[in-house]
Amino acid sequence: MAFVEFQDVVKEYRMGEVTIRAADGITFSIEKGEFCVIVGPSGAGKTTVLNILGGMDSCDGGKIWVDGKEVSAYSRKELITYRRYDIGFVFQFYNLVQNLTAKENVELASQICREPEDAEEVLRQVGLGERMKNFPAQLSGGEQQRVAIARALAKRPKLLLCDEPTGALDYETGKSILKLLQDTCRNTGTTVVVITHNTALTPMADRVIKIKNSRVRSMEKNDAPTPVERIEW
Ligand SMILES: Nc1ncnc2c1ncn2[C@@H]1O[C@H](COP(=O)(O)OP(=O)(O)O)[C@@H](O)[C@H]1O
Ligand SMILES: [Mg+2]
Repeated sequence: MAFVEFQDVVKEYRMGEVTIRAADGITFSIEKGEFCVIVGPSGAGKTTVLNILGGMDSCDGGKIWVDGKEVSAYSRKELITYRRYDIGFVFQFYNLVQNLTAKENVELASQICREPEDAEEVLRQVGLGERMKNFPAQLSGGEQQRVAIARALAKRPKLLLCDEPTGALDYETGKSILKLLQDTCRNTGTTVVVITHNTALTPMADRVIKIKNSRVRSMEKNDAPTPVERIEW
């Protein structure tokens, strides 16, 4: 069994009379330490898949396995523990606490886990050694996203899940964030999953999962991923 397994996962959202099937039998696997890109158009079901993988949402059918454990069988309480200890999340709009400094934002996450990384050390790793005392409003978008990545990494998560992490950033800044994520994957062995609608990014991945209309259209392994610096879009 792979590190991450989705087996025929179904998710439906009921909105009054209408039911939307956001995941319609999703099956894929991801190996430990891989940099995986999930790509597909807007509305395809990417965020739904990531939220289920991260224990933020539950599925209505199918099974999910992570590191040998069946996440889809977890109770509400077990899901809290799973989110807290095993998952790092990075969102499009950073989601930092505005009245806490960069360092305090990272410390907030380390307070809820077992063996956190040192906040200052992880901020240095993401290139923010000189900006620890700054508040989010005093940082650029790219720097704020680095804080968010540091906050996720401070937990030493089994899975780092990133939902359109460059969606709010300009081209060059977006590239530098993707490079940070790719380097983090290589240097720490963390399994990283990045969602994007940008198909140009797929060469940087070890594994590409294409999602369309709530289904997996293809899954490909890439034995020679391209460094982000060499990708243009
Ligand atoms: N909480 C929700 N309630 C109702 N519908 C939802 C919800 N989340 C997602 N959807 C619907 O499910 C489909 C897939 O959405 P989503 O997973 O966000 O796609 P993507 O991230 O690929 O853009 C869309 O039709 C969306 O409107
Ligand atoms: Mg989405």
